[in-house]
Amino acid sequence: MHNTHVGIDALAFAGPEHYLDMTDLAAARGVDPGKYLHGLGQKQMAIATPCEDTVTMAVAAGARALAAFGIDPGEIGTLIVGTETGIDHSKPVAVYVHELLGLSRNCRTFETKHACYGAMAGLTASIDWIAAGRARGRKALVIASDIARYGLETPGEPTQGAGAVAMVVSDRPRLLELDRTRFGDYTRQVMDFWRPLYSKYALADGHYSIECYLDALEGAWHDAANDTPQTLALDRLAACLYHVPFVKMARKAHHKHLEIEHGGPLPSDDAQAHARLNASYAEKVAPWLELNATVGNIYTGSLFLALIDLLRQGRASFEGREVSLFSYGSGCGATFCVGRIAASAARQAAALDPQADLDARRRLDIDEYERIMAESETGDLVETLDPSRYGLDRGGLFYVGTREHVRRYARA
Ligand code: HMG
Repeated sequence: MHNTHVGIDALAFAGPEHYLDMTDLAAARGVDPGKYLHGLGQKQMAIATPCEDTVTMAVAAGARALAAFGIDPGEIGTLIVGTETGIDHSKPVAVYVHELLGLSRNCRTFETKHACYGAMAGLTASIDWIAAGRARGRKALVIASDIARYGLETPGEPTQGAGAVAMVVSDRPRLLELDRTRFGDYTRQVMDFWRPLYSKYALADGHYSIECYLDALEGAWHDAANDTPQTLALDRLAACLYHVPFVKMARKAHHKHLEIEHGGPLPSDDAQAHARLNASYAEKVAPWLELNATVGNIYTGSLFLALIDLLRQGRASFEGREVSLFSYGSGCGATFCVGRIAASAARQAAALDPQADLDARRRLDIDEYERIMAESETGDLVETLDPSRYGLDRGGLFYVGTREHVRRYARA
């Protein structure tokens, strides 16, 4: 069939230059560090200064994906930025990114929003654009870019983070082929997490949001299974990738995934079933959660950050193997789908590994973190912002203030 190989051809991550260590946050909040490190599974979280926003991170990730995979900006015929931390009620982040990446004027450009689901919405729209024959040999660039903020001393505080993942979608993908016959969708109006127009911070009914996520996994899985659940069998999958608001959530998701396949809850006294769950989690999920544990929740990009973690390991034995992907956006919308690791994927491992950048990040102390959080409240209203005030000295593109209601960006 035409275009059966549509999928992800290039991937890159870019994020803030600073992070907070979870042990420092635990000490400041008087919480046992074990809760953050093991209870949530987080080690560090990326903290964006007022000069690092959804646009600057998206541009950095987009530029890196194009350069690292040798793709000319002129080849991009669709640009979609998925975000839930936009910078304008009307003007899309994507149009700034379009200019700053030097893309062609004959490019369809827009922003997608559905909480953490926005980038998956962009990815599926791009696949459809190619499969419908509209691409005429061009590629789509889909960028997930977000700053996850719940505010100081809230239950969500340890699940913050920031960053962008850029993916190029094409009909000759070098990384992951997506099977258009095995996509399942799910939507339900729930108040688990939202951010009203007047608030910089997300509101969350945290424990309920976990239930909603797991319910959506079940709903989307059944839709993807359609009448052939055997095509989704866990035994066939080399890896299961989930939306990762915090690492422990991926474990809860995998537990649910096993239960869905098993047809009901794993009995708590069934030691063998729990041993199988532990082994399956250790084999198919845990090995690709390191980036999520050190970056934190990046909302739209979190699922794809786990994909980067898997692919950067360059496992040649995974080429040709299938992986599942589950995207969840609060509110809620979800997709479960299956992809196949491309034959050339292992060769691309170094091109998409963000480790050097993560190693170069600076650890904030708690006072610096709280000052950044406070100054971020008014960053949109300040005429002039100086990146050096925040120790942003590695160069790159920054937001430098808003004058006469126009946001300004400059390279430092
Ligand atoms: P909480 O109530 O502070 O934490 O909030 P808890 O009491 O539930 O503890 C968390 C875990 O730590 C528990 O493990 C504890 O047992 C364990 P679990 O029972 O879940 O396995 N624990 C410890 N472990 C070791 N040593 C200790 C210790 N103490 C406790 N000393 C919550 C946690 C996640 C609810 C909160 O951080 C929150 O509200 N986060 C934001 C919402 C969220 O991330 N929801 C996830 C699902 S919704 C989603 O993914 C969408 C989202 O990304 C947004 C979007 O779509 O845009 C959020």
